[in-house]
Amino acid sequence: MTIRVLATLAASTVLCGLIAQSGGPQAGEEKESPKPAEIERDRSPYCVAISPNGRFAATANHTAGSVSLVDLKINRVAHEHRCGNGPADVVWIDDQRLMVSLRDDDNVALLQLDNDRLKTIKTISVGDEPRGIALHFKSSPPRAFVALAGIDQVAVIDIQSHKVIQRIPVGGIPRSLAVSHDGRWLITCCNVPGNVYVHDAATYKFVSQRSIFDEGFNLGRPIVLPDSSQVVFASPINRTFPVTLNNIEKGWVIDNRLTKLPLPDGKYWQQKQLGLDTRGKAAGDANALAYSPDRKWLVVSCGGSHELLVIDNEILKWPVADPGDFVPHGLLADESALRHVKLGGRPVDVRFLDSKTAIVANYLSNSLQIIDVAAAKVVRTISLGGPQTPSLIRRGEAIFFDADRSFDSWFSCHSCHFEGHTGGQTYDTLNDGNYDTYKLVPTLRGVTKTGPWTWHGWQTSLPASVKKSLQTTLSTQHEVTAEDVEAVMAYLTSLNHPRSPYRLPGGVLTKQATRGQILFAGKAACADCHQGKSKTSADTYTVGLESNRYFYREFNPPSLSGLHTRRRFLHDGRADTLQEVLTRHHQPEKLTGEKLTAEELADLIAYLKSL
Ligand code: HEC
Ligand code: HEC
Repeated sequence: MTIRVLATLAASTVLCGLIAQSGGPQAGEEKESPKPAEIERDRSPYCVAISPNGRFAATANHTAGSVSLVDLKINRVAHEHRCGNGPADVVWIDDQRLMVSLRDDDNVALLQLDNDRLKTIKTISVGDEPRGIALHFKSSPPRAFVALAGIDQVAVIDIQSHKVIQRIPVGGIPRSLAVSHDGRWLITCCNVPGNVYVHDAATYKFVSQRSIFDEGFNLGRPIVLPDSSQVVFASPINRTFPVTLNNIEKGWVIDNRLTKLPLPDGKYWQQKQLGLDTRGKAAGDANALAYSPDRKWLVVSCGGSHELLVIDNEILKWPVADPGDFVPHGLLADESALRHVKLGGRPVDVRFLDSKTAIVANYLSNSLQIIDVAAAKVVRTISLGGPQTPSLIRRGEAIFFDADRSFDSWFSCHSCHFEGHTGGQTYDTLNDGNYDTYKLVPTLRGVTKTGPWTWHGWQTSLPASVKKSLQTTLSTQHEVTAEDVEAVMAYLTSLNHPRSPYRLPGGVLTKQATRGQILFAGKAACADCHQGKSKTSADTYTVGLESNRYFYREFNPPSLSGLHTRRRFLHDGRADTLQEVLTRHHQPEKLTGEKLTAEELADLIAYLKSL
């Protein structure tokens, strides 16, 4: 299920045809010059994995539907293999086999390496929105855990039989996971709310669930320390103060930290955090980290501020209590303790090749970058292919993910609107003319079709809203040009809702959802306000949720499309489930005087989940 209309594919259906026929580009072949359609596509590597023998790197090319195999001896792409839509993670099972999660196809593919070329040997259907993969070799037979972000589960796959043998329920929107080195714990990072789950990796029994100090969200890939006693990950932190220049500057709106959590059930007070932001220059959208094999270095990729932080792990002392707002003084006292390596683009993943060399997957620059860590320098850039000049959508995407557009680089549009959707946090953006009126970040999928905008519906122009977000929400010192707004608008147009996993094959409604559909339009009269395809309207209403503090009293009904992808609801995020929305805050009997039976309510919710 394609979430995003791919920039270059959307540009021309002819290109699509060419790619389909070509059977996948072979960028490493010297004699055959690449066909135009093949160079045109953005690759957008989302992660990178190194083969156990160190010979190859493999990248999950998110918007190209491919995996690139990079020969690390010659630092070139040896082969690129079309494997399916929305590759989100790739892992090596051994030197010959890889597993790739295909977010938009709802399956994982097993690839085989044959004469320095990749081929798909099996696809395994796993369920909605597979993202992170973690392998568990200490079990017999070996298993793979796959995070299913769409249905809040981890699928367990027997790697030998290729069967899904278990499903583990976890929190909202699980994205990345890890297995501890001793094979005892499965760690799953969930996004809404930002929680870490620990399960017994052998029995799949629930062990603990921890929220992150000061509201961590958009949690990055967890790294387990060698003795399996702790797990570390990067994330932004919602500091919950109003979005004003003064607060942004102090790191009080969103800051960026590493969190260290004892395994298996580290209490809240046992968490340690390390601030990554320097005064005047924050580490926007810190997202992945890696330790060098000799433990000398700790590196963190920052997608928003386009850099790799290189920290001397031998000097580093994690703060014992409150991490404060900035990087600890100890790291600033010595020049070599913390260095910033400029990478450009959007660095999203990082691994070590050896104790001196790191490799970064750079999404927006379609490349791998090799870094000499001691020298804090990029020593080589390996292009994965891509257009010479970025399309308008891609330019908009670059602005959307650019934390340097915000004051002192603290955060980007993406920090709040995760990948154009929502990170499920609330903020006081002051656009509603008042303080202390926190609003849930709305999804931007389908946003071009659902005016008026903002929860109160006071904004009638989307370009004006985008301009205001760029200028005011980010408190930018940049001039915002008409071209910037046009590019972001193009990017927003490319964001679509995914198909609901609650529908039957072919998109057909279940019997229960069909009964709910009849209620929605009939007895429950939801369609009075939630109209048309997007289930919204151009009007605003009071529905009993307004407060005296609000400058605007009414709300615009949010579009109900893609409801299944949200885990918080209503303007201030007061409800965590649709059940709660309809039984506690937005009850049908209050809206229309019609009380629904428990069964009718279940039918209605089944319908809402299928929108
Ligand atoms: C600090 C978090 C934050 C950042 C950063 C942020 N937004 Fe938002 N955005 C919000 C919140 C909260 C709302 C809802 C505001 C309201 O309704 O009062 C919102 C609303 C919107 C809307 C209206 C959506 C609708 O359906 O009504 C658009 C469009 C939007 N943002 C685009 C952007 C763009 C583009 C950027 C980057 C330039 C951006 N936002 C940065 C938090 C953020
Ligand atoms: C009088 C107009 C009106 C009617 C009738 C109505 N709604 Fe709403 N609905 C709204 C408004 C306005 C909001 C936003 C309120 C807020 O966030 O405080 C809303 C919010 C919602 C939300 C939350 C969506 C989100 O993303 O947070 C859901 C779900 C919803 N309505 C479903 C329904 C259902 C189901 C019915 C029928 C039983 C219904 N509504 C009837 C106006 C209406």
